[in-house]
This record gives sequence, structure tokens and C-alpha cells, in this order.
Amino acid sequence: MVNYNISLEGKTVLVTGAAGFIGSNLVKRLFNDVPGIRIIGIDSLNNYYDVNIKFERLQQLNDLVAKLHPGKDEREKYWKFVKGNIADMQTLNHLFAEEKPSVVVNLAAQAGVRYSITNPDAYIESNLIGFYNILECCRHHHVEHLVYASSSSVYGSNKKVPYSTDDKVDNPVSLYAATKKSNELLAHAYSKLYNIPSTGLRFFTVYGPAGRPDMAYFGFTNKLRRGEKIQIYNFGKCKRDFTYVDDIVEGVVRIMQHAPEKADGEDGLPIPPYKVYNIGNNNPENLLDFVDILQQELIRANVLPANYNFEKYKELVPMQPGDVPVTYADTTPLEEDFGYKPSTSLRDGLRSFAEWYAKYYGTATTIVK
Ligand SMILES: NC(=O)c1ccc[n+]([C@@H]2O[C@H](COP(=O)([O-])OP(=O)(O)OC[C@H]3O[C@@H](n4cnc5c(N)ncnc54)[C@H](O)[C@@H]3O)[C@@H](O)[C@H]2O)c1
Repeated sequence: MVNYNISLEGKTVLVTGAAGFIGSNLVKRLFNDVPGIRIIGIDSLNNYYDVNIKFERLQQLNDLVAKLHPGKDEREKYWKFVKGNIADMQTLNHLFAEEKPSVVVNLAAQAGVRYSITNPDAYIESNLIGFYNILECCRHHHVEHLVYASSSSVYGSNKKVPYSTDDKVDNPVSLYAATKKSNELLAHAYSKLYNIPSTGLRFFTVYGPAGRPDMAYFGFTNKLRRGEKIQIYNFGKCKRDFTYVDDIVEGVVRIMQHAPEKADGEDGLPIPPYKVYNIGNNNPENLLDFVDILQQELIRANVLPANYNFEKYKELVPMQPGDVPVTYADTTPLEEDFGYKPSTSLRDGLRSFAEWYAKYYGTATTIVK
């Protein structure tokens, strides 16, 4: 086990992508669990998917902060949200100079594999220029620990499973994956050159309430509600290591509190304080089983009527460019270093999603035709 060398109590933490799915859940968890924490959130609120979900997440965060810190001055002291682009160096530099964050969690990115085929610019801007700006700011403003999102996509079509952080990952099959691998390389160089402790996290297919509408479980639900066909890729012969968002957040919060140790090598230069971990469920599920559980939970939550004819709306189609047949996380290093591995079952996780969906969009009886 590693030692926790960073206490988050009373610290200022910068979370980029704070209105995003994982970012908003992280901010919520930090406010609930860490006394005196001050959080600066930045997000461009882009319209890659329905921006109302981002506003809804921010509203929930504002409500939580108002509950924890009732006075207006107090509220403004502990939570600040900035609508801004991390690819804009001036904005970012100003934010670091003003707020002096001790820990930075970079979750802002253009996500999605398929979208990178039609919109490559968005990936270069947010994932490369934005990430470079974050590194430069960490360098000049003496950040104690940079934690950043990488992705299971870096494994490309790795044949060996489970995917280990010791595997060679030099064969990305999408631009998204290439930018995430580049983040790890850039972080390594900055850790070595400027002794910046950094930890990269390869997340595996994250899902949960108020998640991303571009992801399969959410998109399938929207389509089934509209009576449209859902397309199941690779004729259903795909396996995914689905990871519930609370499990991801638990991993991030633990990892934030341990910055890789600084040390000098025999040459007198820093040994890079640099680590990369997988955070995944370590239990890949077959896509057809996943769709089956989703169906059951959508009926249970009354998102769809009990007599819904699922077979009519399922279409098995070939593999799509950029997709991979399996993702499967080896989480041994996470367990050894942090005594933790994700464990929420797909049934429990999809149940929470379906219940949230019913509340947010209405139940089957209240569907607006
Ligand atoms: N959800 C997953 O399954 C998954 C899997 C692997 C990796 N990741 C990574 O985790 C991170 C968070 O993912 P998420 O699922 O919460 O996605 P998300 O799209 O919900 O959140 C990302 C947020 O970043 C914001 N953003 C994008 N570009 C920005 C920019 N240039 N400046 C400021 N804000 C910007 C977006 O508006 C969005 O709110 C991303 O880096 C993503 O690549 C996610």
C-alpha cells in the first residue's frame, strides 16, 4: 500500500470538466466527504451532447454547496465555477495565478471514439492543446499533484487480456485513443523535466445516473423510448468492462491523496514522479447480456412498458471503425497500492441509471408522444 502524502482537507482543488459526467460526480463526492475543501471547477459547457444535462449537474452542485455553506460569502469561498476553455492559455493561467490550486484533476476532454472520425479538430483542441496548457500551468504554479483522465482506448485492439498498464500501447485505433496516449507521454516528459507528480487514470466504460447520452446504455434507452431500432455492434460479440461512476470516483479520490514520490536518480536528475493506473470493473460483460439487464431495469423503473417488444427494435450490425471487441482491466496495481477495486454489479448500476432516467425524463405512462 502507498502512503497518503496529500491531505485534501482545506486544500484548493481544480477540477476541469466539472460539469461533465465524471467531473460533477467527483466534485459532489469531495464536498460531501472532505471538510473545508475549496473547489474550482472549469468547463466549456460545449454542446457535444445535450447541454441541459450539464446545467442540471451544476444546479445539483450549487444546491449541495448551498446546503453545506449556507451564507453567500461562504458559498463563494468554497465553490467557484468558471465557464471557460482549457485550450485558452490566458484563461487558465489567470485561474491558476488567482486560485493557486494544490491538486489538479483534469477531466475536461473531447470524449467519444466515433465522433473523432467526423470531428478531429475538437480532439486536438481539448485533448492536446488543452492538456499541454494544464501541464504548463502545473509547471509554473507548483501544483502538488496532477491527476488526469486517460482511457482504456489506449489499449487499441490489444489481444492479451486483461489489459495491464505494463502492456505496450503503441497501436491506437482512433484519434481519441491517440490523444489519450499522448497525454500520458506528455505527462511523463513534464514529470521528468520539472518534477511534477502526475497520475494518469485509464477509465473503462463509465456509466451511471446523469451519464453521457452519447454512450450505448443511454443512447439505447433514448432510442427504445422513441420506438427506434438500436444497433448492437460486432453482432453482439463485444465485451466491455462496464464501471459504475461511483467506483471511478472512489478510485480518483484515493489516488488524488497520493502523489508519486519525488526522488533523484544516479545521474542526479529526477526520477519522474509518474504513475498510470487502470480503473475498471475487472469483469467484462457480454454486450447482449448487458442489453438484457438494461431492458429488465428499464421495465422495472417504468421507463418502458412491461409489454415492450424488444426483439423488434434490436439490430445486430458489424464492427465500427475505431471500436474494439473487448475491454478488460487488470486492476492488480490499484488493489496493491490503494487496497481498492471497483465492484458495483451491472444490475445495481443500471438500476440506478434507470431510476434516474425515469425521474429526469418521466416514466412510460408520462411519455410525451
Ligand atoms: N465516461 C467514460 O466512459 C470514459 C472512459 C474513459 C475515459 N474517459 C475520460 O474521462 C474524462 C471525463 O469523461 P466524462 O465521461 O465525464 O465526459 P463528459 O463529456 O461528460 O465530461 C467532459 C467535460 O469537459 C468539458 N470540456 C470538453 N472540452 C473542454 C475544454 N477544452 N475546456 C473546458 N472544458 C471542456 C465538456 O463540456 C464536458 O462537460 C474525459 O477525459 C474522458 O475522455 C471517460
